[in-house]
Amino acid sequence: MRIYQESDYQEMSRRAAGIIAAELVRKPECVLGLATGSTPVGTYKLLVEGNRRGDFSFKKVTTVNLDEYKGLAPDHEQSYRFFMQDNLFNSIDVVPERTNVPDGLAQNAEAECARYDALVESLGYADLQLLGLGRNGHIGFNEPGESFVKPTHVVDLTESTIEANARFFASPDEVPRQALTMGVGVIMAARRVLLIASGEDKSEALYQAVCGPITPQCPASILQLHRDVVIVADTAALEKVAAAGVSVCG
Ligand code: GLP
Repeated sequence: MRIYQESDYQEMSRRAAGIIAAELVRKPECVLGLATGSTPVGTYKLLVEGNRRGDFSFKKVTTVNLDEYKGLAPDHEQSYRFFMQDNLFNSIDVVPERTNVPDGLAQNAEAECARYDALVESLGYADLQLLGLGRNGHIGFNEPGESFVKPTHVVDLTESTIEANARFFASPDEVPRQALTMGVGVIMAARRVLLIASGEDKSEALYQAVCGPITPQCPASILQLHRDVVIVADTAALEKVAAAGVSVCG
């Protein structure tokens, strides 16, 4: 696990975008695992700028997103498909047919999860999987629970996640109660994982993920078993990790 400490959100975004850009140069036909939430917005902005400058291209890239709310249409402003179109896909040279997000409207959500797993497997899994971090230690929408769930599955969102995500909706009642998410097995199958975190409200979750026991109570803690994880976080998010004496770069 390599940890980069950056001074603030902008520097975190710059470092993360630099790592993704390097992957695009290393392997132009790579499979990129992408995430949503407020944390990657700055990273995506920098990737759009770099793509416009011609520093790298997404023309041969295939993308696989982590998750989607169950019941939200792709054109719903809070769906993760909409988020990806708005923050990245509409502004880069990616081939639209090679962007993949689970279908939140699928009649049979379990069948959609199986289809998504087969798709990601057929692509050989992500070369680089970007992850945000939930305040309760979730990755994708893998919530704290009794066991790590390996495949893509339908999940009941916890109250803390519904509350955290309510800021994007007109009222907490509008936040979907379920989502489709890549399981931790699919995330762990990625060749490299890039986890980004910003702000002091991620400090405890990041500490548990890096220094705590490997437990499904903190889904991100399973990353301790991955052989190639890069964490890019700002000073506020790394406060507890740094206080524990864990060595960081940058
Ligand atoms: C959501 C997403 C996660 C994301 C998390 C943190 O629950 N499903 O993939 O990492 O929120 O979001 P934020 O970056 O806004 O703190």
